[in-house]
Order: sequence, then structure tokens, then C-alpha cells
Amino acid sequence: KATPRVRQLTSSLIRHLHDFARENELTVDEWMSGVELLNEAGRMSDDRRNEGQLVCDVLGLESLVDEITYKLTSDATDEPTATAILGPFWRKDAPQKNMGDTIVSGIEGKGDRTWMHGTVTDFKTGKPIEGAVLDVWHTAPNGLYEQQDPDQEDMNLRGRFTTGKDGKYNFYCLRPVPYPIPFDGPAGKILQALDRHPMRPAHIHFIISAAGHKPIVTQIFDRKSKYIEDDAVFAVKDSLLVDFKPLQGDDKADLELPYDFKLATF
Ligand code: DHB
Ligand code: FE
Repeated sequence: KATPRVRQLTSSLIRHLHDFARENELTVDEWMSGVELLNEAGRMSDDRRNEGQLVCDVLGLESLVDEITYKLTSDATDEPTATAILGPFWRKDAPQKNMGDTIVSGIEGKGDRTWMHGTVTDFKTGKPIEGAVLDVWHTAPNGLYEQQDPDQEDMNLRGRFTTGKDGKYNFYCLRPVPYPIPFDGPAGKILQALDRHPMRPAHIHFIISAAGHKPIVTQIFDRKSKYIEDDAVFAVKDSLLVDFKPLQGDDKADLELPYDFKLATF
């Protein structure tokens, strides 16, 4: 729809594309290679794969947009939990779970069993938030999300948890591992052209929402993971680094991961 904003974005994009072509004296062949890259990304994309997003991500565009958005919404003093990019592997309708449940299904016995827990609070008042929904997802120990892997059960390592009055949450998951973003398409070609690797550091994704509060899309990163300094899609932020600790006395987990989330009001 031709709103003023759409007109502004479209004409600005045209201006920058023309500048790009002039600055580089773009040839017909080069321009056509770009067109083919776009077409290939379209052909590769479906419910399970969003190649256009992957291309944006290796170009740093999603993390830049996240940074711009977060700057615009963050408060100068004490800050709410930092945001991070959504990435291409979120799925809607992850199974609703009860506190203390596990999100591991069908791969029991694999990976480092982890008990994750914490509180969701209002960052200004410090008060716990009741009814906050944590939507969580991460990769299996083989480095694949369930929708990328025919050997995994549907919705493995995904879940939605709702906090009670005390704002607390806890569930069982696995310690995530570093893994490559899919690099057999246009995103991979861009990485190759720049001599870059496709690896992401180990991370767990969250979308956290609660009535009256700004929802956050974020990821937490294992401080000890390889590629923390060198994420292929530029998503790591210091405040999102977390520490897995040994856990005793729980026959369902060998590690614990404490982390509190702080939300801002509108
Ligand atoms: C991207 C993000 C992810 O969280 C992931 O697991 C893979 C790829 C991305 O931004 O492209
Ligand atoms: Fe991810």
C-alpha cells in the first residue's frame, strides 16, 4: 500500500541501489548474478527454510534492524533484557507445557541435560510478572532444529511456558551446541565470497510476552561456546552470555542454567 512510509522506503532503496551500481560500475553479468541469487533464494524457501532471511542475516541486516529497534525502545538507566534476532527457525504453536516439564522429546539420552530456571520481572519495579509466556526453542545435539531433521520428533526442543504469581519459570532442556547455518544456498555463497565460516555459537531462543509489557525476542549464548566472538549472523550481546553450572541432586539434569528476564512496560 502506498503509504508515505512505503514511498520513503522504496525511493530510498532505489537511491542506494543506483549508488551501488554507479560506485561499482556494475556490469550486466554481475547484475544478472544478483538477480539469480534472489531467484535461487526464492526457490529454496518454504515452510521449513527462509533463505531470504538467511541472506539478510549473513549480511548483518537482521542484527542491525534489531539494534536499531532496541535502541529506540530501551531506557537509559537500568535496562530490560536485551533483544536479539529471531532467526529463521521459530515455529508458531510450540507445545504448551507446565513448569518443570522437559522440552526434550524423542532424543532422550543425547546431549547435556540442563535445568533452566529464573524469574520474569518488570525491570522498573522489580516485581515478578504473572502470566508471562516464554516461547523457547533450540537445536538438537546434532546441530539441527527439528524442522530441518526428519529424524527428530515434531516440535522437539520447543515449548511454551506460562508463569504463575511468582513470575518464576523452570524447565528441562539440553545444553545447545554451535552449529552452521544452512550454507548450501545463496547465504552460503555470500559467506564463501567473503571467506567467512557459517558457524553460530551455542544459543537458546526465546520470545517472552506478557500483558502490559513489550514483548522481547532474544537469544542467550553459552559463554564458553566456540564462535562467541565470531557469530556468522552477528547476534551476540554481552548481557546475553550465560553460564551453565554443574547441578547435583537432580536425576533429570546434570547442569543448571539460571537466567532472569526483565521486561519493560509500554
Ligand atoms: C540464523 C539464526 C539462528 O538462530 C539460527 O539458529 C540459524 C540462522 C540466522 O540468523 O540466519
Ligand atoms: Fe538459532
